[in-house]
Amino acid sequence: MDQVRNPYSPGAGSPPPALVGRDAELEAIDIAVQRLGLGRFARSIMLIGLRGVGKTVLLREFAQIAKGHDWVHQHIEATDDLRFPEAMAMLVRRALLRLSAGQRPADRGRRAFGVLKSFQIRWKLPDGGDVTVGLDSVPGHADSGILDDDLAGLFIEVGELARDRGVGVLFTIDEIQYLEREHLAALTVGLHRVSQEQLPFMVAGAGLPSLPALAGEAKSYAERLFTFTELDSLEAAEANAALATPAEAEGIRWHPDALDRAVGAAEGYPYFLQEFGKQAWDLAPGPDTISESDVEAAIPVAIDRLDTGFFRVRIDRAPNGERAYLIAMASLGAGPFGSGDVAGAMGKTTTQVGPIRDALIKRGLCYSPRYGVIAFTVPMFDEFVRRRFV
Ligand SMILES: Nc1ncnc2c1ncn2[C@@H]1O[C@H](COP(=O)(O)OP(=O)(O)OP(=O)(O)O)[C@@H](O)[C@H]1O
Ligand SMILES: [Mg+2]
Repeated sequence: MDQVRNPYSPGAGSPPPALVGRDAELEAIDIAVQRLGLGRFARSIMLIGLRGVGKTVLLREFAQIAKGHDWVHQHIEATDDLRFPEAMAMLVRRALLRLSAGQRPADRGRRAFGVLKSFQIRWKLPDGGDVTVGLDSVPGHADSGILDDDLAGLFIEVGELARDRGVGVLFTIDEIQYLEREHLAALTVGLHRVSQEQLPFMVAGAGLPSLPALAGEAKSYAERLFTFTELDSLEAAEANAALATPAEAEGIRWHPDALDRAVGAAEGYPYFLQEFGKQAWDLAPGPDTISESDVEAAIPVAIDRLDTGFFRVRIDRAPNGERAYLIAMASLGAGPFGSGDVAGAMGKTTTQVGPIRDALIKRGLCYSPRYGVIAFTVPMFDEFVRRRFV
């Protein structure tokens, strides 16, 4: 059928033509934003899920909702070499600029930039070459050298300026599992201080289930501050709607058997649904129905697309040792696996392959659901590895 009108959108962070099955999360953020706007407590939100379940897409929706309430939104995607204090300063700088746009220079805004300058000096950060030049720093604020306190100092400035302007601020942090444990802890403790001030400031994060367990004090804060929401594959009815609704809007009907076949092959995973939907649409002769045989023909094409894109990018940069570990995992099935069993399949001891296992977790390819257990972060990755490497 007409490829130009094909509605499906497989791709990292690509907004789906129909966002299904996430109503509860959307409602939760809407309520949280409104509550914070009234000076009431609301938890920040942490979305947790495997690759391709729709975390980034949902974070983007959160941003739209916040903006709908006139909030300022800033976003970063963490990487394994993120310079955390610098990244936080950048978010704060941009938020302050947005909050100050079109405002007469007022004491409150100048002070907030001054506190940012104190933070930049204390943490030896470049000043961004712009806004704080020529401003006085505000000694004693956000410059203790203790990251938790200094972040709290920055966030409070942002929150107070937002409140003065009658708006709020949302920071979204994607791939949050890449934050080092101490940085995640500092973020949590910093946020905790802001929440005590009842300011309209909120963080929404998204990450893999490998999101490191927070240690000690930060953990008890985290449990009170964040709602941890696990995103999973879609229920059958939702998955059907993810495929059928966008087609209906174009006057195209999916035969129920075609839906069953596609949803089954995709196991309800959002990324796979988009890919199977896209290929089925392109291959179907039409004029107005997608049939089961169209889906049958599309499946190998869609799988090939996934193999050369979605799956392969994960393994491309993995050194040989890590690849061998992934192959050993896949030889055992879909997982989760006992770490000892994987080591055994490689003819090694758990201790010998420990560093490889840790590297795979750090890279975000695997996570440990509990002690001594290892699993893929990418759905159906075992099948890919067996197709391509065994
Ligand atoms: N609720 C949904 N309904 C239908 N399609 C969805 C839904 N959520 C996401 N998708 C589709 O799934 C794909 C993956 O979404 P997204 O990039 O947000 O996943 P992710 O969880 O961030 O993955 P990763 O861990 O790889 O970053 C996109 O093509 C998107 O359009
Ligand atoms: Mg993502």
